[in-house]
Amino acid sequence: MTSATWGWSDRLSLSYTPMDETHKEFVELCAALSENNPATFIERLDQLIVHSVAHFEQENQWMAEGNFPPAGCHKQEHDSVLEIMREVRRRVEAGETDLGERLAEELPLWFEHHVDTMDNMLARFMANNAVSNSPAEVVAG
Ligand SMILES: [Fe+2]
Ligand SMILES: [Fe+2]
Repeated sequence: MTSATWGWSDRLSLSYTPMDETHKEFVELCAALSENNPATFIERLDQLIVHSVAHFEQENQWMAEGNFPPAGCHKQEHDSVLEIMREVRRRVEAGETDLGERLAEELPLWFEHHVDTMDNMLARFMANNAVSNSPAEVVAG
């Protein structure tokens, strides 16, 4: 797979609208990292980091509110990838621009795996909770 052609597709949908909407934004910002314009790389990475902090915090909060059993494991994946983004940012700024290209190639793979596993479990959990708590929301959602 080349990140230049990567983008949103139904393959990434988890049929939980609030999460899918956030994931579409992640995919857009993540795909933008592969634009061949070194002058704006840090700016684009900063946008992805800002998005990711809010994105992951929302999921962490859903897990905390719902007492989601594998919350620790899921949160750990969020923390690890954020740490990598920040480390790459530091090193690209220091001149290791090839690391930015590597990140742009690797992040889509990370995201697809994360969506297939951690986010998939959470989306099912949220959808099931919505069914038991408020059927009207599911119909509307
Ligand atoms: Fe997510
Ligand atoms: Fe997640």
